[in-house]
Amino acid sequence: MSRHLLLLLLPSVALACSADQPDTKTSPASDSDSGIVDSGEPDVYQMPTLWGLTALEDLDPADDVVEVEMTAAIGEVDWVDSGPTEVWAYNDLVPGPLIQAKVGDTVRIRFTNELGSGTTIHWHGLRISDEMDGVPAIQDPVEPGETFVYEFVVPDAGTFWYHPHVRTHAAIEHGLQGMLVVHDPAAPLLSERAFVVDDVLLNGNDIAPSTLDHMTQMHGRHGNTLLTNGATEQLAGTMTAGQPERWRIVNTANARTMWVRPTNARWRVVAIDGTVLPEPFETTRGLLPVGQRLDLEVIPDEGASDVSLQIELPDGSGGWAEYPVFSATVDGDPAEGAWTDWGAAPLPAIEDAVQEAELILDGAAGSTTIEWTINGEMYGEHTPLEFAANTPTVITIRERSRAEHPFHLHGQFFQVLDRNGDVVEEDGGLRDTVLVDGSDTLRLYTTFDNPGLWMAHCHILEHAELGMMTEMIVHE
Ligand code: C2O
Ligand code: CU
Repeated sequence: MSRHLLLLLLPSVALACSADQPDTKTSPASDSDSGIVDSGEPDVYQMPTLWGLTALEDLDPADDVVEVEMTAAIGEVDWVDSGPTEVWAYNDLVPGPLIQAKVGDTVRIRFTNELGSGTTIHWHGLRISDEMDGVPAIQDPVEPGETFVYEFVVPDAGTFWYHPHVRTHAAIEHGLQGMLVVHDPAAPLLSERAFVVDDVLLNGNDIAPSTLDHMTQMHGRHGNTLLTNGATEQLAGTMTAGQPERWRIVNTANARTMWVRPTNARWRVVAIDGTVLPEPFETTRGLLPVGQRLDLEVIPDEGASDVSLQIELPDGSGGWAEYPVFSATVDGDPAEGAWTDWGAAPLPAIEDAVQEAELILDGAAGSTTIEWTINGEMYGEHTPLEFAANTPTVITIRERSRAEHPFHLHGQFFQVLDRNGDVVEEDGGLRDTVLVDGSDTLRLYTTFDNPGLWMAHCHILEHAELGMMTEMIVHE
């Protein structure tokens, strides 16, 4: 309800999703394989082909080590006819290159900063050591010209992503963002596609400055140009009749909640954030707030000649505006196809809470800006919350500002127990991000199994920048 009311207040920015220049650097529309394939040893796991992004080459021959090189630098893309757009890019790509590994692998990223100022990389959703989490409270920014080696073991399969955690609202908007996929060798082998969806605010061919005017402080920065895998035009591909595919989608926008809907297809949500859901579910449109990931299973309708992926946004008058961002022609004889048996493990059992905490999300007019707070404090003046590790915990989040806040917790997974007292299907799974909307009250359950210092914040990046961030210390 309130979600729609709030969106009515937004500036009426028309998203351009049209026939602009293809982004040749990302070659998103290629059907060619991007899997990391080792030698021909029969017992070597071969990662599924993941269409849509340029994958990084694994420089380490060991089967359980992925080593890649990444450089952040100023780059250029061709998004609009009026001229090139200056971006901040990982390996000259927007979005950055795809990093792929399998569960349990050691991932080593040799990261060099060639930007003009310090930066870090945060691995959104990965339950790794806090020393590798890329937040300034722990890691000094990697200064221009410096190299830092991020190294961690990836404990969970799923669709994750990465981005800086320094001046995050400007960094992500300027292009520093990418997908990281951890494959589960035991999962059913399907054709996979990756979709990194973003909206960027262009002023002519330039990314508009990251200024915080009143509307932006209030709702976060909303773009005017929709990007899918860094392309302004619709991506094209091919599907096979009757064959299910796995689509991994992440919303990397600064603020804009999106919905996703394949057309001419049967589809269901099979994973949210990381883990595959014990019970995949069908829905009208998949809610995708910023920071969140959805994995969809998609089967072309019997006899369909094309399938598309649409981003859907409220049109401001109670309906939906549709932006087709991908279209596939369907090859092969008409076939019905069948859902995949994902064989997902049940979610961890919920035990009685031994510790509890409350987070009040609120906003108020400060002397110069809106001040977004958690428990009345802006980041910087906040008191970290402290918890014991490996302990059943319920966190109650109460929203008081009637705004949207996609809440993200680093380093842990949580389950949503209920929203305003109701169990909601789209809140399911083990996740790291959840949309807190309107005056919602959510109860989250976690066991805090990863000790360390962890950020918790709103993923509307301007809300985070204006204070809506805190820290949680999880004691061993
Ligand atoms: Cu994706 Cu602390 O963020
Ligand atoms: Cu927020």
